[in-house]
Amino acid sequence: MKGIILAGGAGSRLYPLTRVASKQLQPVYDKPMVYYPLTTLIEGGIREICLISTPQDLPRFEQLLGDGSQFGLAISYREQAKPEGIAQAFLIAADFIGQDSVTLILGDNIFYGGDTFQKAFADFKSGATIFGYHVNDPERYGVVEFDLQGQAVSIEEKPKQPKSNYAVPGLYLYDNRIVEITRNLKPSARGELEITAVNVEYLRRGDLRVERLARGFAWLDAGTSSSLHEASAYVQTIEKRAGIKIGCPEEAAFRSGIVNLAQLEVIVRQMPNCEYRAYLEKEVVAEAKRLKQ
Ligand code: G1P
Repeated sequence: MKGIILAGGAGSRLYPLTRVASKQLQPVYDKPMVYYPLTTLIEGGIREICLISTPQDLPRFEQLLGDGSQFGLAISYREQAKPEGIAQAFLIAADFIGQDSVTLILGDNIFYGGDTFQKAFADFKSGATIFGYHVNDPERYGVVEFDLQGQAVSIEEKPKQPKSNYAVPGLYLYDNRIVEITRNLKPSARGELEITAVNVEYLRRGDLRVERLARGFAWLDAGTSSSLHEASAYVQTIEKRAGIKIGCPEEAAFRSGIVNLAQLEVIVRQMPNCEYRAYLEKEVVAEAKRLKQ
């Protein structure tokens, strides 16, 4: 399975923060926003990642993540010249996807808790798998309606009158038909290739799985100043309380076995003295050494 991180968009809701750095590069507490979706992909077992962003922001992402080798990954980059929809990512990255299945994650979606995603990645065979998360304001999202048996019966993009409180978070798993399905999509009224239209097509074919995320799971959105602040506060609260980090790709790479202890030590030594380095030294490297003894 390949992975795409879509980090496009003008970020106009965060202006003036986004005048010089895109939304997905803004800090969510102690690290850039894109670290969180990147970590989610690493934890899901994805090793080949294509990051898509605007021509002006792409160099910054390359500066931040490089070729991915420090995380044991292969990261490549593609431009989305204009914000013409989430699904356009599959056309931009068609050659990257090749004959594989693919996961798309939005660069501003932050997930925390449980192993639902890891299981979904491991169990994925064909069709599409998406998720449903209970929210207070479903009209801001793609909304999925379930029947009494828990089967998805409809999905609508930002409906004025939502048929349920279940929003579709920005993490989607598709088989290789995604490229052909997207090629046949027509742009919506707002001129975009809608991800919801893709999901509706899989639903029509009887090939869509929608998994409801449990109550203990956190899905945070960091697209407005207020939600960005709340996401930071949430991350700080958990990190302080538990003494762990959320969204730490170096740690995730080590725990998934794609970076070994010696490699992690080299990575850590290259970091300046900071709290992030101290965490990796103490809670990850030293802990791993202690357990090895
Ligand atoms: C997009 C999708 C929407 C999805 C949301 C998740 O909306 O169109 O279906 O629920 O991401 O973050 P946007 O954030 O682009 O308005």
